[in-house]
Amino acid sequence: MSTNTANKKGRIITGMRPTGRLHLGHYLGVLKNMVKLQEEYECFFFVADWHALTTKFDCTENLVEDTRNVVLDWLAAGIDPEKSDIYIQSHLPQTAELHIYLSMITPQNWVERDPTLKDLAKMLRTGEDETKPNVSYGFLGYPVLMSADILSFNVDYVPVGIDQVAHIEITRDIARRFNNIYKTELFKEAKPLLTTTPMLKGVDGQKMGKSFHNDIKISDDEETTTKTVMKAITDRSRARRDDPGHPDKCEVAFEYWKAFATEEQVKKVQQECIAGKRGCADCKRELAAIINEQLKPIRERRKYYEQHPEIVDEIIKKGDENARIAAEEVLSKIRKAVGMFQL
Ligand code: TRP
Ligand code: SF4
Repeated sequence: MSTNTANKKGRIITGMRPTGRLHLGHYLGVLKNMVKLQEEYECFFFVADWHALTTKFDCTENLVEDTRNVVLDWLAAGIDPEKSDIYIQSHLPQTAELHIYLSMITPQNWVERDPTLKDLAKMLRTGEDETKPNVSYGFLGYPVLMSADILSFNVDYVPVGIDQVAHIEITRDIARRFNNIYKTELFKEAKPLLTTTPMLKGVDGQKMGKSFHNDIKISDDEETTTKTVMKAITDRSRARRDDPGHPDKCEVAFEYWKAFATEEQVKKVQQECIAGKRGCADCKRELAAIINEQLKPIRERRKYYEQHPEIVDEIIKKGDENARIAAEEVLSKIRKAVGMFQL
């Protein structure tokens, strides 16, 4: 963590569940934003491995690897351990403790009303195994645990996607309720900082995701990336190479051009496509080269950290430690506010 926090605009926290290697959708939508924010704010970034357990308590065989991969992708994308603290949620007992205090004051119907949680529960219910108890006590506590993550640091902002805003609303409600009940002004009301970049589609035009096999991973090599980009959907109405194309109907490839290339490059592609002077295969090969070029330093960084797991361990240890110091400072005030016996 930067020791100089005086000129920062406030404190930020955000977490990510360890669900596997991150793809370009994550990179453009979330990681780039995190990298930028670390210049202006005091940042805590954590892997939400306890949140992973709320739905996947019975398949933990990849949990360690998935957790490590999130950290590797973050470091690769440019999260700088000198500027930000990266920690693992389950390494911070203060969050678990705060979760208990918050769970006592959170009305049951607040969590039952959480729309994001309802959607998640529906997905669990449509799962394969009918006998599996789908909504556990811990699962219902999802937004409360998230509130504990956020309030352990009493942050100003929480960068999240739109689907997480409902949880942040609950966090603000819980913070207000805590302040009311214990007659304190301890908790700030953390504001969501919306990740604005639109979602990048998968190469097949569906939502990008690993389960659809339509994504490009940050950790993919150049060859794999090129192969995947070549599968990208183009203007479906175009039959021959010299037919005039419609970039605005080029569902995926042209969208990627806009996401990764300069305005000038995009304009050139657009003009040549409309004039029938650009074949889709060549167009995508060129696009793949541009994407690979942009990912080059990221992949090199990832390789470096993959080859030096001891450095990654040190980064996490340092992050855990700094997070513990910051959270303990808040927790000591919380215990006092609640009225716990302390020696
Ligand atoms: N629920 C978030 C997600 O699935 C992850 C998360 C857990 C989080 N705790 C958080 C995000 C606290 C921001 C702040 O993406
Ligand atoms: Fe899309 Fe490029 Fe083909 Fe035009 S030439 S339709 S922009 S892939």
